[in-house]
Amino acid sequence: MPDNNSDGNIFYQPSTITKEDRQTLHGHKSVMLWFTGLSGSGKSTIADRLQYELINREISVYILDGDNLRRGINKNLSFSVEDRRENNRITAEIGKILVDAGLVVIAALISPFEEDRQNARAIFNSNEFIEVYVKCTLEECEKRDPKGLYNKARKGEIKKFTGIDQAYEEPKNPDITIDTSELSIEQSVQKLVSFLFNKVGLNQI
Ligand code: ADX
Repeated sequence: MPDNNSDGNIFYQPSTITKEDRQTLHGHKSVMLWFTGLSGSGKSTIADRLQYELINREISVYILDGDNLRRGINKNLSFSVEDRRENNRITAEIGKILVDAGLVVIAALISPFEEDRQNARAIFNSNEFIEVYVKCTLEECEKRDPKGLYNKARKGEIKKFTGIDQAYEEPKNPDITIDTSELSIEQSVQKLVSFLFNKVGLNQI
């Protein structure tokens, strides 16, 4: 990535209103919940259900879904290792803006590489980034195959498919693991809700 500020001519513009002011306005902390996992592991489904539960508890939340971003802002990016890195980087930067705006952000994207996830974490304050490993065996994801993509990948119709002919690096140190081969969607969401309120202290500002 070229850095257009290597000569130091771009300046940070401070804001009178701070992130903390916005959190006070919303009545809760703002954090990035970074969901990583194989295609078909349940990231988008759990993100959607979690968003519903949080809105019901008057938490301002927004989902950044990999598929949706790839239909718009990231539509120029492929599934090469480099473009996945860029996809992850852009998503993290958008998430950072939304966290600054005082929102709880759920990023749901495969994000298969440990280094890219660590780079995402690195742009947040230490207590703002929560890595959620949506864990599910490849066998089970392939059995679910909700979009028929594993079938296509096995036939060679899709290349560089995560888990088939491109790697998925399991998170080394996730903040929380949701094993969807064992938990139902409801149980997964409940685990996350209680983690957010009891461990993260979402409503303690
Ligand atoms: S990431 O690796 O760059 O984080 P992202 O989550 O944005 O991936 O996109 C994954 C989605 O793109 C999958 O849910 C699937 O619908 C679609 N997709 C299309 N081609 C591939 C591929 N080669 N590997 C993985 N997902 C793919």
